[in-house]
Amino acid sequence: MSDDGTTHPEPSAWSPDSWRSREAVQQPDWPDLADYDAALKVLSGYPPLVFAGEARALRASLATVADGRAFLLQAGDCAESFEAFSADSIRERLKVILQMAVVLTYSAGVPVVKVGRIAGQFAKPRSSPTETVEGIELPSFRGHLVNDIGFTAAARTPVPERMLQAYHQSAATLNLLRAFTKGGFADLSRVHQWNQEFVAASPQGQRYEQLADEIDRALRFMEACGLDHDTVPALHQTDVWTSHEALVLGYEEALTREDSLTGDWYDCSAHMIWIGERTRDLDGAHVEFFRGIRNPIGCKVGPTATPDEVLELCEALNPGRVPGRLTLISRMGAEKITDGLRPLLRAVTDAGHPVVWTCDPMHGNTFTSPGGRKTRHFDAILAEIKGFFEAHRAEDTWPGGVHVELTGDDVTECLGGSEDLLDGDLDLRYETMCDPRLNGRQSVDLAFRVAELLRKS
Ligand code: PEP
Ligand code: CO
Repeated sequence: MSDDGTTHPEPSAWSPDSWRSREAVQQPDWPDLADYDAALKVLSGYPPLVFAGEARALRASLATVADGRAFLLQAGDCAESFEAFSADSIRERLKVILQMAVVLTYSAGVPVVKVGRIAGQFAKPRSSPTETVEGIELPSFRGHLVNDIGFTAAARTPVPERMLQAYHQSAATLNLLRAFTKGGFADLSRVHQWNQEFVAASPQGQRYEQLADEIDRALRFMEACGLDHDTVPALHQTDVWTSHEALVLGYEEALTREDSLTGDWYDCSAHMIWIGERTRDLDGAHVEFFRGIRNPIGCKVGPTATPDEVLELCEALNPGRVPGRLTLISRMGAEKITDGLRPLLRAVTDAGHPVVWTCDPMHGNTFTSPGGRKTRHFDAILAEIKGFFEAHRAEDTWPGGVHVELTGDDVTECLGGSEDLLDGDLDLRYETMCDPRLNGRQSVDLAFRVAELLRKS
């Protein structure tokens, strides 16, 4: 029995390096294995980025999502960058997440668990190991933890020391997140004021005016009752947890530590980590690694996933059926979601697995614009979320949350939204290192739209 009262069965014959006996896909081709091992040795001597007790606290919060008493907002960069690393950029991302969370909390009428794709989201799976431009073939960019984005052989060569830089940037980012979320930046009335500014400035803001006014009245009511940030600390500070796709298993293993309190293993690179759509093979190295750590974990579930496959994943990753341990992140595409998700919801519910169901409306809706940019349309993103809610309504299950790629910056990477970005606008500020992200306004816009859906359901 763990100290949080859950009973995870001991994983059979597992160790932090047992994944090494399985096939590990999507791993970098490190040119010098001695250098790679040396970097891992350094990493394994570094302090943990998060503590086991924090991971347990997040697991407990996610358990409330699993049984329909809270909503999960997981959001942040597709790929964090070593270059776009500043206090401003961290603050702006956090600000958008907080703004979205306030709108969702009010509409869902339940707490919103906030998890950033931040402070560690540095490694990317790729559909092709190489990229060819004008007849020249080079290794694909795999995220700043591995190599660089420039199209030269030198930039694309994996450099193990990058793992150390990813660690340090994660530590600094996490430090600032902790300071901002506990130091007054997350004050509820202040976040609400940002939303009111958004509503006032947005061309279609009137649509949300009523909802914003209702939140305003609720806040005044609380204040009149004597509930302010002196009496209720939760109005003034919050928790924003960290998460990333745990792709490069050497890095994750090096940050995996035995908790002195419980003797359990935790991957201390982030509070929550997830398995991507391309690495969820049941017999593969990622599932092997994940089954033995005790963090709350996620697993992407794409349009080809069958009910049997998903059940096997649930059994492998959460044999003790611990609520909050496993979040299934569906990413089917707007067209496939309703029909694709329903059989999975049914199978998992019938088998009695207490998972969190969340909707990634980004990765199944990517296409290349006529101008050659990888993009997504706001309407397709919203349509997938709508389909997700419909599937849950039909199966009488709880639509636990959303998982989105966003930035606080004023980029032009996704089409549509309240400013109705068009194909010709994509070139203006297309800054992502990987997938197109919603900008700050599109993100808050999306939160208001999801709020409307939540109120309807
Ligand atoms: C991602 O979340 O950035 C990603 C690559 O997603 P998926 O594994 O679902 O394709
Ligand atoms: Co992405």
